[in-house]
Amino acid sequence: MTRTWFITGSAGFIGSNLASSILAGGDSVVGLDNFSTGKRDNVSRVMAQADGRYRFVEGDICDRATVAGLLEGVDAVIHLAAQGSVQKSFADVGHNNRQNIDGFVSVLSATGEKGIPRFIYASSCAVYGDTDQLPIREILCPNPLSPYASSKLMNDLLSRNLEHLYAGTCITGLRFFNIFGPWQDPYGDYAAVIPRWIDRCLSGERPIIFGDGSATRDFCYVGNVCDLVVRIGEGRVGEARGVFNVASGKAISLNDLCGAIIDALQARGVKLCFEAPEYQPWHEGDIIHSLAGIDLAQQELGFEPVVDLHVGIARILAEQYAL
Ligand SMILES: NC(=O)c1ccc[n+]([C@@H]2O[C@H](COP(=O)([O-])OP(=O)(O)OC[C@H]3O[C@@H](n4cnc5c(N)ncnc54)[C@H](O)[C@@H]3O)[C@@H](O)[C@H]2O)c1
Repeated sequence: MTRTWFITGSAGFIGSNLASSILAGGDSVVGLDNFSTGKRDNVSRVMAQADGRYRFVEGDICDRATVAGLLEGVDAVIHLAAQGSVQKSFADVGHNNRQNIDGFVSVLSATGEKGIPRFIYASSCAVYGDTDQLPIREILCPNPLSPYASSKLMNDLLSRNLEHLYAGTCITGLRFFNIFGPWQDPYGDYAAVIPRWIDRCLSGERPIIFGDGSATRDFCYVGNVCDLVVRIGEGRVGEARGVFNVASGKAISLNDLCGAIIDALQARGVKLCFEAPEYQPWHEGDIIHSLAGIDLAQQELGFEPVVDLHVGIARILAEQYAL
C-alpha cells in the first residue's frame, strides 16, 4: 500500500530530508512552506527525485483553508513549520506565537477534523530550559526560557487539551535535540555547528569554538529522525500518543566534535590551512552540558538512532559535497 504524507516546512532542513526519504520509499508527498527560512533549492532537489509524486505548494500554515484543501487523500500529517529563532521570538513575541501556536492549531484542527489517523509534530528540547539533571527525560518539569520554547511547550499542552476532540487522530510530539545532516543551513536558527564548521574548514577558515571546548551536546542524525517519523506515520508502533525525546542519547564535547569533522575532511584528502580551531569566550547563559534520555522513545516507538555522529558526518560530506 502506498501512502500520501503532508509535510509542513518541507522546504526546510528536516522537512526536505524527510520528503526525500519518504519519496525514496515509494510514497507520495504534499509539501507546504512559505520560505521564511526554507530554501527553493531544497524543493528543487527533492522534486528532481520525485517522479511526479511530490506536490509542493507555497503557502502559510496559518491559512487554514489552504491547509484543509491540501489534506484530501492524506494518510499522515507531519507538522515541522515553525518560527525557529530564539532571538526573533524575543524581538516579536506576537509573530512567534502566530506561527508557532496559531499555526500549530490551524494544522492540528484541520487534521483532526478530517480524521487523519496520524499527526506528528516537532516539539523541542528547548522546553526543558537549563538543567543539570542529565540525562534529560520527559518527566523533567519543563522550564522554557524563551517565547520560542514556551510556544513549543504550548504545542505539547494543546495536544493534550484537544486530543479528545480528535479521537480519530493519534497525536505524537517529538522533542528534537540537536538534529544534524545534509543541507542544514550553516547560518540558520538552530545551533547548526556541524554545517558551520564544515563550511568554514572548506572555505579555509578556522572553526570557532566558544569556551574551552569541554561543553557537551547530544547530536542526532536527521536520517534517524526520518526513519522514526516513517515508523510512526505508518502505524508500525503502538499508541505513540504524547511527547518523546528524539536524540542520540550520547554526549560529545565540542572539542571532540571539531576533531571528528577535521579527521573526516583530512581522510578525504582535504588540505586544511590551519593548525587548530579558534577559541572565543563562552556566551554567558548558554547551556554547558546537554544530554537526552531516549528510553521512552526506544520503548514506546522502537526508536534506534543507528546512524552515529561519525557516519552522519561522512554522509553529509558524500551527499552534499561529493567527498
Ligand atoms: N533542527 C533542529 O535541531 C531542531 C531542534 C529542535 C526543534 N526543531 C524543530 O523542528 C522543526 C523543523 O526544523 P528545521 O531545522 O528543519 O528548521 P527549518 O527552519 O529549516 O525549517 C522550518 C521550515 O518551516 C517553514 N515555515 C516557517 N513558518 C511557516 C509558515 N507560517 N508557513 C509555512 N511554512 C513555514 C520555513 O520556511 C522552513 O522551511 C521546527 O519546528 C523546529 O522548531 C528543530
